[in-house]
Amino acid sequence: MMAKKQKIVILQRDEDDLLDTDEVKEPAAGPAGKTEASLAKEQVQPKDVKVFLRTFGCQMNERDSEIIAGLLMDHGFGVAESQDEAEVVLFNTCSVREHAEERVAGNIEKLSSLKDKKPGKMIGILGCMSQRHGESLFSRFPSLDMVVGPGNIYDMPELLREALDGKKVLAVDKLKRPKKGTDPAYRSGVFSAYVNVMYGCDNYCSYCIVPYVRGREVSRPKKDIVKEVKSLADAGFKEVILLGQNVNSYGKGQTQKVDFPEILEAVNDIKGIERIRFTTSHPKDAGKPLFKAMRDLPKVCEHMHMCLQSGSNKILDLMNRKYTLDEYMKKVDTLREMVPGVGISTDILVGFPSEKESDYVATRMAMEDIKFNSSFIFKYSPRPPALSSTLIDDVPEKIKVERNRELLEIQKEISYEINKKMVSSSQEVLVEGPSRMSKDELVGKTRDNTSCVFKGPSDLIGKVVKVTVKGTSPFTLKSELET
Ligand code: 5AD
Ligand code: SF4
Repeated sequence: MMAKKQKIVILQRDEDDLLDTDEVKEPAAGPAGKTEASLAKEQVQPKDVKVFLRTFGCQMNERDSEIIAGLLMDHGFGVAESQDEAEVVLFNTCSVREHAEERVAGNIEKLSSLKDKKPGKMIGILGCMSQRHGESLFSRFPSLDMVVGPGNIYDMPELLREALDGKKVLAVDKLKRPKKGTDPAYRSGVFSAYVNVMYGCDNYCSYCIVPYVRGREVSRPKKDIVKEVKSLADAGFKEVILLGQNVNSYGKGQTQKVDFPEILEAVNDIKGIERIRFTTSHPKDAGKPLFKAMRDLPKVCEHMHMCLQSGSNKILDLMNRKYTLDEYMKKVDTLREMVPGVGISTDILVGFPSEKESDYVATRMAMEDIKFNSSFIFKYSPRPPALSSTLIDDVPEKIKVERNRELLEIQKEISYEINKKMVSSSQEVLVEGPSRMSKDELVGKTRDNTSCVFKGPSDLIGKVVKVTVKGTSPFTLKSELET
């Protein structure tokens, strides 16, 4: 079982930090944040060095922050609830878009002025930005004390001690993650947990920085994944979200041949776990064996995040995505045939170099044809050394903004139409917490990953309940608890 202190939330998650999307959609109802953070005050033993960790970017970063937090706590470091009360402020950063890096830079500059006022405060940049920029970050931010890449996070306790001894710490040499091993048990949630199944990416989509900052693909051994999920189930977790940049290429390069559907099967067998989700799926590697597992394994939720990126074959080719629109659409048809009611979400990138009006229209038409349940729409920004940075970034910002906005509007209408069809249906929901929008409502996700609010007692948080959908807004179902 996990020690009590491991339930303390120290990861300050600002939802904007995590999303870093160009999407400006009306937010779907989500749980009111920081419910557990307030617990921290009562449970934390004051320690000499209090650390505050702030996470930007994707779910992999959220999970990395849990690992860092767990390691630091296991080594006796204390926890700060705010930047102001911390001796050490760590930013776990994202490099996937320029905007993500600018936000971190803005935060560090603000904090540096504070540091001048309160000498002794230490600042560290962890994660993808550290890997991408390395030592140069020290000259860009003179008050910076630590630069630690995603592969070096396992050394954080020693690295932090070195920094506390007055050294400027640069640790970006371990691009590849350790293949085997047990991560610290600490989790920021209490009923839903991320579990890494693989690290890194081998796909080298031409726009993407990930393979350069998170290294090549490494799959975790099946037995380590199963062991971790079992201990989560023992600790009362109900849902696991299996993480990888491309979970469908799981097993590549392993001596023991195990594929991702086998991982789903093994996790499905673990008593106590009620729901299994996974992300992300690359369209070229997702196929019938996965869809069959989604159909046949009762705990695997009927939701798939499968990035389309563009509806233009010319752009898909330049992006090195290795599929055509037609191939993508056929996969969607097969998935929908095999897994009735499946929710499909996607990522779309607008303004890739040389994207003409006709390429953009192809993307728009693909979205109108496919009708995703939800989409994340991003404006392209060059990320050297990713290959597309050698192409001229020739789509004017104004056009990128317009394309982004138009696709968001289209998605909003499509989501609304899909949600309206769910009115009167009965849905199974995992209750996440009180709704952000209204205190006396709870919020959770349906199996197909749609947000859903309803009135109910707070002791339902963390439980799977049945609701009847009574109405909807574009992104959130309004429901009633079934008795
Ligand atoms: N510019 C804008 N968006 C990007 N993404 C990846 N690289 C870039 C880039 N250079 C988007 C893709 C990916 C998501 C995580 O971020 O849509 O799926
Ligand atoms: Fe980046 Fe492509 Fe790998 Fe996704 S699959 S992380 S977009 S390189």
